[in-house]
Amino acid sequence: MLETRELTIRFGGHVAVDAVSCAFAPGTLTAIVGPNGAGKTTYFNLISGQLAATAGAVALNGRDLSGLPPSARTRAGLGRAFQLTNLFPHLTVLENVRLAVQATRDGAHRRGLNLWSIWSDHRALTVRAGAILDEVALAARADDTAASLPHGDQRKLEVALLMALEPQVFMFDEPTAGMNAAEAPVILDLIRRLKRDRSKTILLVEHKMDVVRELADRIVVLHNGRLVADGEPAEVIASPIVQQAYLGAAKA
Ligand SMILES: Nc1ncnc2c1ncn2[C@@H]1O[C@H](COP(=O)(O)OP(=O)(O)OP(=O)(O)O)[C@@H](O)[C@H]1O
Ligand SMILES: [Mg+2]
Repeated sequence: MLETRELTIRFGGHVAVDAVSCAFAPGTLTAIVGPNGAGKTTYFNLISGQLAATAGAVALNGRDLSGLPPSARTRAGLGRAFQLTNLFPHLTVLENVRLAVQATRDGAHRRGLNLWSIWSDHRALTVRAGAILDEVALAARADDTAASLPHGDQRKLEVALLMALEPQVFMFDEPTAGMNAAEAPVILDLIRRLKRDRSKTILLVEHKMDVVRELADRIVVLHNGRLVADGEPAEVIASPIVQQAYLGAAKA
């Protein structure tokens, strides 16, 4: 269970996230919606540790993560979709994913200079990385450098790196932004498949209401940094506060 308690950040006089308390259970996909500037990305940054909260706490399975840097939160099980800047542009797609898999397999290369062990580790990493690339439909690109991929494929590679970390919590911030009509369904399908694993907690910031309607088990609405609605998708979408505060101001 991921929880935020009274999570708050102030930038000067502006409270971008204002005492947001919310719990996210495994096996649930929660869509976080709200108008531009509502605080959605900032809320993610506070959960993942990219920003330090002014007040409040973040806890995972009862463990307080407040004050931990992003890397420690990742190790604890929080997975934030990588930004393009996390890719190694001159390594191949397969090498990028293999590094991410390796990062999760503790100590594989600390067992000493046993060449057989190093070789079998390498093979196991490659097999796992290849399986992930199959899942994100990037296997055909395995030997291309990350830098040479079209934008949509780079976004898929970000998701592949996230999957390699095997987090408990997946956070996606507008995962299909900038993707074309052929690329977006692949990512949405990946999220759909992740959802079937009932042990995973998924948080999705998404502006497209048709996507939200289809994927979300629950919708949380942020407005001016505050949590203003939380509940079943149909109910939340129909609520007056969402009709006014969000849908009136939503991106097309
Ligand atoms: N590092 C920062 N310094 C100062 N203000 C910030 C910072 N990060 C975000 N803000 C402000 O906090 C508010 C919330 O921004 P945020 O990016 O979280 O909104 P959002 O809901 O993700 O919007 P969008 O839908 O456009 O992505 C905005 O007013 C923004 O200008
Ligand atoms: Mg945002």
